[in-house]
Amino acid sequence: MPSISKKGLSMPESPIRKLVPFAEAAAKQGKNIYQLNIGQPDIKTPDVAMQAVKDNSIEVLSYSHSAGFASYREKLAKYYERNDIHVSSEDIIVTTGGSEALLFAMGTITDPGDEVIIPEPFYANYNGFATSSGVTIVPIESSIENNFALPPISEFEKLITENTKAILLCNPGNPTGYLYTKEEVQQIADLALKHDLFVVADEVYREFTYDGVKHNSIMSIPELANNAIMVDSVSKRFSMCGARIGCLVSKNKEVITTAMKFAQARLSPPTLAQIASEAALDTPQEYFEEVNEEYTLRRNILVEGLEKIEGVNVAKPKGAFYCIAELPIENADAFAQWLLEDFEYEGETVMVAPAAGFYSTPNTGLNQVRIAYVLKREDLERAIKILEVAIKEYTSK
Ligand SMILES: Cc1ncc(COP(=O)(O)O)c(C=O)c1O
Repeated sequence: MPSISKKGLSMPESPIRKLVPFAEAAAKQGKNIYQLNIGQPDIKTPDVAMQAVKDNSIEVLSYSHSAGFASYREKLAKYYERNDIHVSSEDIIVTTGGSEALLFAMGTITDPGDEVIIPEPFYANYNGFATSSGVTIVPIESSIENNFALPPISEFEKLITENTKAILLCNPGNPTGYLYTKEEVQQIADLALKHDLFVVADEVYREFTYDGVKHNSIMSIPELANNAIMVDSVSKRFSMCGARIGCLVSKNKEVITTAMKFAQARLSPPTLAQIASEAALDTPQEYFEEVNEEYTLRRNILVEGLEKIEGVNVAKPKGAFYCIAELPIENADAFAQWLLEDFEYEGETVMVAPAAGFYSTPNTGLNQVRIAYVLKREDLERAIKILEVAIKEYTSK
């Protein structure tokens, strides 16, 4: 049989999805599973977006421009303007999800063997995108003790080599929920300028910030114009994960010209989903206020509930809708599997994401899990109760 590529063999499995067979088996046995493991929001997609698809009168579902609809990019530029990000439609390429924007960014700025520094734990799919692009991720550990704040800049500097091409920041962070301060974003910008590096900022959770704290975009630092690349998405903002629309934004013309070649090679982003995404930009502000209020309440229920469980340590998130919790166990992989295979409380169990898959340093985060608070409040309360019973049972085994 012809052999599979080394690259294919080294593609990492999603740490979130590898428990799925156990969940399927548990569901078959009739267990009700509270899914705390995935970032699929249960919030309703804005009506304006759905209606625009229903109302369209397209007769031929054709390709769009490789950079996306001009009208959509213009409207996006206005949306960014309102968020203190001064870009024009020419600085934007519409992509098939933030995922494709990440791939285009890596393809545009790195060659095989190049290094990208990323604070860990980080969004696990960065590993897959790096493998696809032949890029080496150089992790820098942030810690639960200080809520996963930016590691000292001197630690970043120690990791910079002649192969370093970029620093990737996820702000607010998945899986940490950490929201970088203005000072932290500025520190990264200063470092990038000093060493002539790119900063790739994944800002797909921009709107999800709590406790009145404002998001600080990498794109709002004028002197970083040639070094900054932003990755964005409609998936979480408008609860439109299935639309598969995102974008790559940069003021650096060479970056855009090069990324456009990748965009042309895949022809165009999806047409109907662009119609929905363009309309979604008319979503009334109250939608976001209601959504953020809901997530704040859920976060509070989750964090307060987890803090009450003996031996559990949790980093309070200020953004996105995830948190990392340290449990009084040794191996979260084994625990997560046990929850599905061997445990139940009144016919129910919970599914969590072991956090080790969000680290690239081996044997790190082994006793941590990522919990997404995308369930409604009463379900979240019930899930925490079940987790509490499970931890007690597991630790007294
Ligand atoms: C931090 C982060 N970046 C990017 C993505 C990719 O999103 P999409 O491809 O759905 O736009 C996700 C999805 O969960 C994410 O959490």
